[in-house]
Amino acid sequence: MTLEKKLDSADDITQSATGDAYLLTPGPLTTSLTVKESMLHDYGSRDGSFIELTADVCNRLLKIADAEDHHVCVPMQGSGTFAVEAMLATLVPPQGKLLNLVNGAYGQRISEICRYLNRDFLVQESAEDVAVDVEELNNTLSADKSITHVSVIYCETTSGILNPLEQIAKVVAEHGRALLIDAMSTFGALPLSANKTPFTAMAASSNKCLQGVPGMGFCIIEKDTLASSEGNAHSLSLDLYKQAQGLKTSGQWRFTPPVHCMLALAQALKELEAEGGIASRERRYRENHKILREGMQALGFNTLLAEELQAPIILTFLKPDNPAFEFQQFYSRLNARGFVIYPGKITHAETFRIGCIGDIGSNEMEGVLLAIKSTLSEMGIDKF
Ligand SMILES: Cc1ncc(COP(=O)(O)O)c(C=O)c1O
Repeated sequence: MTLEKKLDSADDITQSATGDAYLLTPGPLTTSLTVKESMLHDYGSRDGSFIELTADVCNRLLKIADAEDHHVCVPMQGSGTFAVEAMLATLVPPQGKLLNLVNGAYGQRISEICRYLNRDFLVQESAEDVAVDVEELNNTLSADKSITHVSVIYCETTSGILNPLEQIAKVVAEHGRALLIDAMSTFGALPLSANKTPFTAMAASSNKCLQGVPGMGFCIIEKDTLASSEGNAHSLSLDLYKQAQGLKTSGQWRFTPPVHCMLALAQALKELEAEGGIASRERRYRENHKILREGMQALGFNTLLAEELQAPIILTFLKPDNPAFEFQQFYSRLNARGFVIYPGKITHAETFRIGCIGDIGSNEMEGVLLAIKSTLSEMGIDKF
């Protein structure tokens, strides 16, 4: 029997409202039908309604970060990496020195960006399943007064590990250095308050926990820091100082704005509020995470991370020690059943990942577990 025929006869195929598979990945993610429908309009970039929409979205994003009083939100076209690169290029001056806290691929990417930008940096690295060591950070900042900035990934999506952001921010503030946060996979779901966790800037994007569509990122930056960053950026398009100036003077983006993406983000932000804000979204993701973790453990899978290190964003599972478990086949069969999962990104172990974020809830988490159970049985795997 072919794969298609087997799946045709299965009664556990799940579909979203649009008939697309659910994206249980680090992003892009499954969005609500209403977010998708919000894009059924065309606006010119100079249209008064779009100018208002941009200002409104930026204000809402500042509010989520509890940063309305002392920070400014600067949107940036492109994926999340564009926003991270723009943040580093604009805020770390050519004579600055960055201490980059790395425990995964997105931390590594910050180092790579610094190499491109020709910024001086050093790395404090821990293994992919170990959180950033705050004591080591404290010692390094005490010993090296030439470090001007510290960068960290809030949730390192490579593994799903949560870094101790509050403690990191406290130490960086005590040493009077600037903290730059990549909050890509947490913003909108895990708390990040500029009043409680002091930061100079953070970057995130439209399409992860905010549940918008991909196409833009944004940075939330201390006003004074942004005001003194003129001329730092090496790049015309990634200059957040210039982008902010343009928005301030005309309300317009400097270059063609991602209009439909902004419409979707405006709708997604309304839906975040309607859900009850970050606390409620975090609760839903934690529930998704619990169902997935416990269900997978019951099926015999082991997680890479200890529970206390895990963010409720994406879970990394170790590839089972069974020759019948072939990831590509597992992936394709789950895909045909309506669920897209993700390969692993860990360097020292064979793994795969399943996300808990997006417009999904307990039904979809239970659905994927059912689909995994059927898939394993089709692959002839009873136990690991
Ligand atoms: C923590 C983190 N930083 C940066 C990125 C890069 O974002 P993008 O792929 O949108 O460029 C991702 C993507 O998953 C991420 O999880």
